[in-house]
Amino acid sequence: MKISVVGAGYVGLVSAACFAEIGHDVICVDNDSDKIRRLSAGEIPIHEEHLPLLLERHLGQRLNFSSDLGEAVRFCEAIFICVGTPPSPNGEADLSYVEGVAREIAHLLNGPKVIVEKSTVPVGTCEAVSRTLLLSGVSPMDFSVASNPEFLREGTAVSDFLFPDRILLGVPDQRSHSIMTQIYAPILNGSYYLSPDAIKGSTCTSTKLIISSVKSAELIKHASNAFLALKISFINAVSIVCERVGADVRQVSEGLGADSRIGPRFLNPGIGYGGSCFPKDVLAFRSVARSVGYDFNLLTEVIAINETQKSLFIAKIRNALWTLRGKKLAVLGMAFKGGTDDVRDSPALDIILSLRAQGAEVRAFDPAAMKRAAALLPEGTATFTPDAYSACTGADALIVLTEWPEFANLDFARVRKLLRFPIVLDGRNLLNAQAVRDAGLTYFGIGGDIEQPLSPLNQFEDIFDPVHVLYEQAPPQVVNTETQLA
Ligand code: UGA
Repeated sequence: MKISVVGAGYVGLVSAACFAEIGHDVICVDNDSDKIRRLSAGEIPIHEEHLPLLLERHLGQRLNFSSDLGEAVRFCEAIFICVGTPPSPNGEADLSYVEGVAREIAHLLNGPKVIVEKSTVPVGTCEAVSRTLLLSGVSPMDFSVASNPEFLREGTAVSDFLFPDRILLGVPDQRSHSIMTQIYAPILNGSYYLSPDAIKGSTCTSTKLIISSVKSAELIKHASNAFLALKISFINAVSIVCERVGADVRQVSEGLGADSRIGPRFLNPGIGYGGSCFPKDVLAFRSVARSVGYDFNLLTEVIAINETQKSLFIAKIRNALWTLRGKKLAVLGMAFKGGTDDVRDSPALDIILSLRAQGAEVRAFDPAAMKRAAALLPEGTATFTPDAYSACTGADALIVLTEWPEFANLDFARVRKLLRFPIVLDGRNLLNAQAVRDAGLTYFGIGGDIEQPLSPLNQFEDIFDPVHVLYEQAPPQVVNTETQLA
């Protein structure tokens, strides 16, 4: 099938490359001609696993880039709109890019097409796109507007696309139903996975196809992101209680997530969610509710808890170091999460800015996001180091702000030698607390870290080390109880 994708941002680019991968002919169009020139030369503007391979396979063959929307519209049977929907100052999504593309398409249509809204938009956007086309004089026989929200996570976007839990098609008529199911057929009937070259890397092999009304599809996307953000804020709130009563949120999270009605994912506490989706989408969904006369106060609380997580972690750093002025801090991680170079709305950057404002000297490292962080942070906020160990050299504490897997595998004995003070503050509960402590470092995590005297064993450990050795040989009952959950 011939597909055009409008917008070569994160959603558009990944979708275009994956449509080509499953066998379609694709033109991806963007009005940033410099970006198109670089993409046509094989230069990829984002850090995304598998994307370089997909471009290498399909660029110039099934996948082409252009800045000519007319060419893209004439070429295809389905046009996917993947342009940005940034937040307005009042929290509503700014739909002016979507409207602009709809108007242009209206003047370029050369026959019946399915127009598919893939950017995250408030409910009613597809209806507004249809109205724009009709007002521009396009016959209703010549188009259908469908909603096909994406559920890609940055860092794993390609495998999320190719091995989705669900494909959601909000289709208004038979024509769009038929075209949309044909587009996703290689994933839905499994033929893509039979190819020896199919991308590997996901365990999900059964995809649920959900056919809904257009409005329901639009709402499912907003509600999904809001619910995931709520899950994170919930466990973050629980982590505060854990810390104050002497429980361990890691165990609580594991016990909670073992209920299949709740599920274990998105129950990792930390310094709060960030990125280009959750913060914007929670606000936008709350605005949608307000616009129809409902105060979705639960979402206001989700946002408030997310903000509190950052201030509580900053307070934890301050408590560990007594004062911040003049302290040298090794900060690992600037991306809003591991596996990406994206620093948009990254809680790590907010924390770095606050530490700097309180007089600390920040020496920061991130495996992928340093360039983007340097472009966003005011000059002099941080010194960027070539690796994690250089950041630690002579620092008063090590602070982990992004869940990059490689940070968990650091040589902590080496870290211990490099740090001036043996203090590690883990804002993502990423590190193995025991390994860190075994290296002679003091570990502070989120939500009742094991530095607190949690159990008789830990209390003994703190006071009288030989007891620890004794218990390792013959663990008492309390250890067994704990390890069942750990
Ligand atoms: C999110 C959704 O997960 C995708 O399904 C959706 O398609 C996408 O938004 C979008 O709307 O485009 P993404 O923003 O890439 O994906 O990142 P997530 O993996 O969801 O993480 C978001 C934030 O939550 C990160 O800052 C992460 O560190 C944080 N997080 C995540 C936690 O603090 N705890 C968790 O347990 C999980």
